[in-house]
Amino acid sequence: MTLRLGDTAPDFQAPTTDGDISFHDWKGDSWVVFFSHPADFTPVCTTELGRASGLNSDFSSRGVKLIALSVDSVEDHHAWAPDIGEVTGSALAFPIVADPDKAVSALYDMIHPGEGDTSTVRSVFFIDPANKVRTILTYPKSVGRNFDEIIRVVDALQATDAHPVATPADWRPGDRVIVPPTMSTEEARTKLSNVEEVKPYLRYADAPA
Ligand code: BEZ
Repeated sequence: MTLRLGDTAPDFQAPTTDGDISFHDWKGDSWVVFFSHPADFTPVCTTELGRASGLNSDFSSRGVKLIALSVDSVEDHHAWAPDIGEVTGSALAFPIVADPDKAVSALYDMIHPGEGDTSTVRSVFFIDPANKVRTILTYPKSVGRNFDEIIRVVDALQATDAHPVATPADWRPGDRVIVPPTMSTEEARTKLSNVEEVKPYLRYADAPA
């Protein structure tokens, strides 16, 4: 199944390191970052799960729950998890879905056979409180993800949901924002502060409080 932005994130039932879950019930009305990794007991994945665990409180403070997945069994996940804390200094802080029959991976199109074998690639789904898929990232198995960027995307999604703005390249909270093309400069001046027209199509404004 190919998921696109705006689609409803498919529900599923699966075993995880925190017990069996029904995904939508587990998620509730939180944001979720759902990310797959190729396999347990692998080096890049160990660093990623440790980094994500170390940032768990930064995700929670933004109303985001983390959940990972690989096609290994829950027994393997449990056997591997202590290594994550030992190696990275951050104990596993969120559930890992076990998907040995690849049912969830198929639902989310996380297996790309051109990437070497039939394990999952490094997919990331940002899912909003209404269960809509809002951003999808896909990395090859050989490239570990940047979790600061994943937090930055959450910040940008939440800022652009809360205010009628867009965010420029490399935007960080507090940086100037962009007036979207759908809003005239006149309207922007009534809704946003310090609007600057660099080009008729490129207008900056202060970040709304
Ligand atoms: C890793 O997590 O280290 C890894 C997994 C599959 C292929 C390459 C690296």
